[in-house]
Amino acid sequence: MEADLVAVLRCPVCADGLALDARTARCPRGHAYDLAKQGYLNLLPAASNGIEGDSAAMVGARTVFLGTRHYAPIRDALILAADLGESDVVVEVGAGTGYYLSGVLGLAPHRRGIALDVSKFAARRAAKIDPRIASVVCDAWQELPLLDGSAQLMLNVFAPRNAAEMARVLASDGRLLVVTPNQQHLAELVDVLGMVSVDAEKERRLEESLAGEFVRIGSEVVEETMRLDRTAVEQLVLMTPSARHVNYRELMQQIAVLPEPTLVTLSVTLSTWQADRLH
Ligand SMILES: C[S@@+](CC[C@H](N)C(=O)[O-])C[C@H]1O[C@@H](n2cnc3c(N)ncnc32)[C@H](O)[C@@H]1O
Ligand SMILES: [Zn+2]
Repeated sequence: MEADLVAVLRCPVCADGLALDARTARCPRGHAYDLAKQGYLNLLPAASNGIEGDSAAMVGARTVFLGTRHYAPIRDALILAADLGESDVVVEVGAGTGYYLSGVLGLAPHRRGIALDVSKFAARRAAKIDPRIASVVCDAWQELPLLDGSAQLMLNVFAPRNAAEMARVLASDGRLLVVTPNQQHLAELVDVLGMVSVDAEKERRLEESLAGEFVRIGSEVVEETMRLDRTAVEQLVLMTPSARHVNYRELMQQIAVLPEPTLVTLSVTLSTWQADRLH
């Protein structure tokens, strides 16, 4: 983890800035956080331990599925919408493996990313995906361990959003890019495999969750038909919240009789937001 990235982090106890001293991040009041040997920093207050992020199996499935490039259209749309300067800091809330964050940093050597996730398994992956990314364990529903105005861009892809904290951390001229699933997203698998479906109120809930702090300045639908083999279907189901509800043996039996390839709709909305200056 690079020292200049630790300098935009703040202590979860006293909110003072952190500085890297060998493999420990310290605030001026002496609170200290050791870098995990897998390269991430745990800034989750002790009282918050036990919050459930993605499991090791879900993160493993996500890594394999994203490696198939079936979700590359989402990443490409984010890259186009990002419009970054050469040394900007990008923060992703609920970053998972860091796949989108790493893509958005592009080839610019001085851009930096901070991957926030409550799952240690996700944090381990994000710490390895790109040397420009600092991987931090924290809870998106609490105060984020970042200094005010420290990010030029924030990403939020299929992940929890805490509008007030994201607005605090975003620079005044910064942008927030949010990816949310549309109702048709993975619809073919929802029926056949009993996956959790996207609720019809998602769009209204997105507006509500950001209202007051952000105004929407753009929106686009990213839609493709994915041609998935059975392994890809399996990984896709196992990386989503459905993984917590399905019976693995039944799932394998259902997948075994799917045609190959199975055609599955990818349909998400990428929306762009900026701080609501009237707030
Ligand atoms: C559906 S995954 C999306 C991951 C990544 N953005 C992607 O699309 O590949 C949601 C992520 O949010 C994380 N998450 C869930 N609750 C969280 C919380 N309270 N704070 C931070 N991250 C959380 C999960 O661990 C998981 O990595
Ligand atoms: Zn402190």
